Parts: sequence; C-alpha cells; structure tokens
Amino acid sequence: MREDSIDAIVRRIGPSARITVLTGAGVSAASGVPTFRGKDGLWKSYTAERLATPEAFASDPRLVWEWYDWRRTLISRCRPNGAHRILALWGRRYEGFRLITQNVDGLDEKAGSDSVIRFHGSIWEVSCRDGCAKSPKRWVLDEVPLGHIPPSCPWCGGLVRPGVVWFGEGIDPEVLHRAEAALECDLFLTVGTSALVYPAAGLVDAARGRGAFTVEINREATPASGRVDLAVQGGAEEVLGLLERRLGGCAGG
Ligand code: APR
Repeated sequence: MREDSIDAIVRRIGPSARITVLTGAGVSAASGVPTFRGKDGLWKSYTAERLATPEAFASDPRLVWEWYDWRRTLISRCRPNGAHRILALWGRRYEGFRLITQNVDGLDEKAGSDSVIRFHGSIWEVSCRDGCAKSPKRWVLDEVPLGHIPPSCPWCGGLVRPGVVWFGEGIDPEVLHRAEAALECDLFLTVGTSALVYPAAGLVDAARGRGAFTVEINREATPASGRVDLAVQGGAEEVLGLLERRLGGCAGG
C-alpha cells in the first residue's frame, strides 16, 4: 500500500508541476519541537488554547510570555530535519512549488526555504501591543532566554506581543492572499497537521475544490484523512524521504 501511495504521488511530480505543501507541527516533531495537541503539547498545566489568545495575554502577559520564552529557548536548540531540508530542496527544484506553514519556529528558513507563507507568523518576531506610531509593524527579537519578561516596546515603553496569530485573530490579509494563490496547484500535500485549526485546515478542501490532487501525510488519522484523495500514514521526514529517493534525489536524512 505504501509503495502504491508513493508511486501515486511521484507520478504527479514533474519539473513543471505546481506543488503546494501545507505543514504543521508534526513536521518539526523530529527536530524536537513539541506539537500542540500531543501528550507533549502541555506546558505546566496549560494547553495552547488557553495561552495563545488575546484574552490570556490581556489578563496575564507575564504568564503568556513565560510560555513563549520557554518555547523560543527550546526551539533555539533545534535543528531542521530531513522533512524541512527536502521541502527547501523542492522549492529550489520545482518552479511552481509553494510552502505554507502553520509553524512559527523558523526551521524552514533555517533549512534554506525562502518565500515561505507563514500562515501563523513567527515566534522570532514581535510587535508593539498598542501598535504605537513610532514602531515598525513588527521586528525581530531573537534573544533567548529573554532578559526581561514581559519585554517592552523600545519606542513607547508599552507591552510587546509575540508576532504570531492567536486563537480568535484573523490571518494577515497579505498572507491569506498568497495562500489563496497557492491553492491553484496540481498537487497539494498537507503534512503533519491535526487539521483542527481553521482557516488553515480548510485549505486542503479548497485546493481539492479547484482540482488539485490532495494528499495527507501524518502519523495518525485526522479529520482531513477522509476528505483527501490519498492519506499516507507515517512520519513526515520518513514519507518525504521516500518520495525524494523515488524522485532520484539524495537529500533528507
Ligand atoms: N510526522 C508527521 N506527522 C506527525 C509527526 C511526524 N513525525 N509527529 C506528529 N505528527 C502529527 C500528529 O499526528 C498531529 O496530527 O502532527 C500533528 C500535530 O498536530 P497539532 O499539535 O495540532 O499541530 P498543528 O496541526 O500544527 O496545529 C495547528 O494550532 O495551536 C495552534 O497555531 C497553532 O499552528 C498551530 C495550529
């Protein structure tokens, strides 16, 4: 079955194929970044849903920043894995390749991907909570661990917030526009995401509606498994590694 699945995907990957990949936390799991909803997704006794909200930040910015500081410190020690490297390679090899990631860890860029569509922003960027007039829209703050929690805006002295999209917030319109353009593709792979968080989880259905062949790669079944053309069970690094070897490349590992 696995061999047939790999063949079915490889047949759709040619030099001019338009390939779009949507990734989630499962792609960074082999790098040691905890996923959100697995048993390792808990921080102290909090779930992501309780911390990644504007309301949580408004009521306890220190607590929320402590969680981000913990994640940033952990991520700073992680290196890209074979899945990140293969996606970066495909970005160089296939002209019509686009990568949309829900991950905020920056490991795709570390692996050499550029033009990544960062659906949920970046954990390495921040913005002024009040959007003060003097500050840029967002800027890089990559100190780990942070010297002062919560960090303050160098321009107005107010609070700084992580440059990520929280539950209940909208996706940056420019990012949404780029993601929508990427739905025009021949092959759409959804990799390592639980397919629970919208609007990202709806992208695969939208791509299928526009005629793409849709594939899910995940260690477990998800709500998307029954809606895609092909669901392949396995680790992202392992399945993408098999695909790349069948395509005749040698990246991965
Ligand atoms: N390879 C492939 N899939 C894997 C692997 C792996 N090595 N390890 C875990 N998975 C799968 C799990 O089976 C699960 O379906 O990755 C998925 C991770 O799911 P989540 O933790 O829910 O992460 P994600 O889908 O990226 O979450 C979406 O929710 O909390 C918010 O904004 C946050 O971007 C995040 C969004």
